[in-house]
Amino acid sequence: MADTRVQRPRRFLVCEPRHFTVQYAINPWMRPDAPVDAALARSQWQALIDAYRAHGHTVDAVDPVPGLPDMVFAANAAFVVGGRVFGSLFHAPERRPESLHYDSWFKTAGYDVYRPLAVTEGEGDLVWTGRYVLAGTGFRTTPDAHREAQEFFGHPVITLTLVDPYFYHLDTALFVLDDDNVAYYPEAFSADSREVLRRLYPDAVLATRDDALAFGLNSVSDGRHVFIAPQAEVLAERLATHGYDPVPVDLSELHKAGGGIKCCTQEIRS
Ligand code: ARG
Repeated sequence: MADTRVQRPRRFLVCEPRHFTVQYAINPWMRPDAPVDAALARSQWQALIDAYRAHGHTVDAVDPVPGLPDMVFAANAAFVVGGRVFGSLFHAPERRPESLHYDSWFKTAGYDVYRPLAVTEGEGDLVWTGRYVLAGTGFRTTPDAHREAQEFFGHPVITLTLVDPYFYHLDTALFVLDDDNVAYYPEAFSADSREVLRRLYPDAVLATRDDALAFGLNSVSDGRHVFIAPQAEVLAERLATHGYDPVPVDLSELHKAGGGIKCCTQEIRS
């Protein structure tokens, strides 16, 4: 079955964790008093970049800025579909200045950046499925931003409500495998949203709570390879059974800020 899965090369935007640390707490994972091994965070992150390149993906980087420790989580800075950039308006004041730096990267690269009026955290909560957008709300991105994104892109936006603070962004509870399927952790969603996901994806790959807590749903799929936290063992096995190739990449130091592989990865879709 594995031979039937087709990889599509991607273009990713990332930001080195040169100034990464946990100095404030804006999600339940963050403990400002617990130590972070900065050198380990950097080498783990570099291994992710190396893995992307080794699998044929293009990686661009934004320069990290001192005093913005969460800037490594590039996914939150924008949502890009069809070469159109929907910028972010971060929920936490601590992260708002990141937008300036990401927006200027996009502008230098030749993109216009739409500035949203409502709180929205890029690919953290806006997930492109290939045909429409799945949009998380409950903790960060607001339903007003979902409407704004729908108007901006002209693609349907389907609102999903997150209910567990450990899974505060949609990309911690669900990821897209390919144009036809997703993987997710049902209990992270309200009962109504679970029903929506069941109808849209009757054959979805479901994750256990342990897999989800190990950031297993904060994965990146290229249609064939799934870059995934090695701690999410059951999920990796299930993905393999479905014909995907799990590529384990350990970002344990970044988990201390509540982020994993997908959080560190913004996809630029031309
Ligand atoms: N500490 C960051 C925050 O709360 C982590 C962001 C993780 N990013 C993501 N795409 N889930 O906001």
